[in-house]
Order: sequence, then C-alpha cells, then structure tokens
Amino acid sequence: MNNKISKIGVFTSGGDAPGMNAAIRAVVRACTYYKKECYGIMRGYEGMIEGDIVKLGARSVGNILQRGGTVLKSARSAEFRTPEGRKKAYDNLTKLGIEALVAIGGDGTFTGLHKFYQEYQIPSICIPGTIDNDLSGTDYTIGYDTATNTAVEAIDKIRDTALSHNRLFFVEVMGRNSGYIAINSGIAGGAAAIIIPEENMSFDDLYKILGADKDTSKKSNLVVVAEGSKIGDAHSLAKQVAERSSYFDIKVTVLGHLQRGGSPTYFDRVLASRMGVAAVEGLQEGKYDVMVGIKDNKIVYNNFDVIMASHHEIDEESRRIAKILSI
Ligand code: F6P
Repeated sequence: MNNKISKIGVFTSGGDAPGMNAAIRAVVRACTYYKKECYGIMRGYEGMIEGDIVKLGARSVGNILQRGGTVLKSARSAEFRTPEGRKKAYDNLTKLGIEALVAIGGDGTFTGLHKFYQEYQIPSICIPGTIDNDLSGTDYTIGYDTATNTAVEAIDKIRDTALSHNRLFFVEVMGRNSGYIAINSGIAGGAAAIIIPEENMSFDDLYKILGADKDTSKKSNLVVVAEGSKIGDAHSLAKQVAERSSYFDIKVTVLGHLQRGGSPTYFDRVLASRMGVAAVEGLQEGKYDVMVGIKDNKIVYNNFDVIMASHHEIDEESRRIAKILSI
C-alpha cells in the first residue's frame, strides 16, 4: 500500500447521473476511513480552474446517498480543454496541497483527466458515472440502472394511453451514441421495435414490423428509439411512417432529461458505493490514470487507453431476445 497520498480531491463532471451522490459519499468516507483529507471540487473542471473547492468530512456527505443529481454540481468546461485552463487548475490544487484526484463522469471527463495526468502526473482515477452505459471496461456505469427504470416506468404509462386510444407511439430515450437504455427499456417495456445505433435496422425493416399495410395489424403499439438512431429520431420516424400510411394514429414522446434525475435504485447506490471505496483504495495502491469498473460483479481497474479504444458493445443475446419478442 502506498500511503503517501494524504489529500484527495473529488469532483463530478459532464452529464449528471443518479448515484453520483452515493459515489461522492463513498469517496469521502473512504478517505476518512483511511485517514486522508478529502476536498470537493465544485462544478467539475470549472471549479478546479476557479478554485471553488471545499473541504469535506464524513458528516458533510450525510443524507445524500438517496438523492439524484450531484451535490458537487456538474459542468462541461471548455476552458479545461486549453493548456492555460489546465495550468490554472493545477495551481489551485497545488495551493491546497491536493495530491490526487477522483473524477466521477463519462468519457469527456476521463479524456480531460488523462490529458491532465500526462501534463502534471497528478495521481488520478475515474469512476464511470453516466446514464449512457457507454464505457467499455465496466459492465455497468452509475446511473444507467436508474435511468432505464425511469424509461420503463414512462413506457408503461404511455402504453396505457396508447392502448386506450389505439395509437402508435414512438418513445425516444437518451444514450448519446449508445443503445443500452433503449434496448433494455424496450425489452422490459414490451416494445414492438427497438431502434439502436448499434443495429443496422432500415426504415423498411421497421415499417414491415409495424405491419402498416395489413389491415389486421395492431393499431396500438410502441417503438423505442435511441437518440443515437441512425435512421432518424422519433419525430422523423413518426413522420416517415405517416407519409407512407394513414393506418396509424401516431404520437411521439421524447423522454429527455427526465431520465437523468430521480433517486438512484438500490443497484446504483451499491455500485456507486463500491466504486467510490475502490477509487480511494486504487489510489493508495498506486493505480493511476485508470477507471474503476465492475466486471462479473468484481471490481476491476483498466487503463485509460484500454477504455477509450473500444465501444461498450451491447451483447448479442439482448439483441436476439429483442428481435424474437418483437414478432
Ligand atoms: O451523457 C448523458 C446524456 O444525458 C446523453 O444521454 C445525452 O445525449 C446528453 O447527456 C445530453 O446532454 P445535455 O444535458 O448537455 O443536454
């Protein structure tokens, strides 16, 4: 164990995700447990540049475990992309004697921290916190489970009204370039079709599944569309179907940022707690420029380069199940 690090800074950056607070709490309390000081950096890299940094103790992170969002707030910083911005950030950390960093965020956050590590060799470790579940090196990212449950709850409600009015709904879910939320909320919500960026489904394929040209087709139905869909977003797909056939009464719901909020599920709370502790322990053990992950329910650490080299693939099994069940 390398116990040389005595002051650790923690921050959240990029899109917030339910469970980030549980991760912050775990980092702070693990620091207390291992007799290290912990500092919270507000608004991600923005706060690092401006010196907006507060001391945190075990008690200051009480009662946040169950809350959505992030008490440290989050931002996407353009200035940190410049060498001048990173220099300011480094000077502020040095002033307070912060020797190591724990970042909670997604690939943009990690890219910034990797650059910072290369320039200033400040020991750093990342915790994957994003609803997108788009990072390789971990089976799950913090927030993904909660966001998917939120999407399923919304889909169930939309199904009620779809059925009452015999309407076809296109429901768009988040995920940037990843179809994880879409595929699993689609399977769990019984969607007739699921459009994800990872699958080469054409508009004709979708049209065929809906059966608009057969009078016997179900009029009430639901299609889940990932925001990264390559054949058009929910509005455009709805328009394309309407242009080809007047068989359906079509409506569109874009779930949007609703999926980013809310109290984290038990799964995300436990995942965040495990990863937060693992981040502090990883730093103690000299694991730098890595991301904490969970693989087959075990904590793992992967180098930044490995994480960034590949897309988090959606398993073949889920894609197959979705196809079988959409008949
Ligand atoms: O990365 C999380 C995410 O919610 C994506 O799913 C989405 O594409 C993006 O962030 C939205 O970003 P913003 O909150 O800046 O609109």
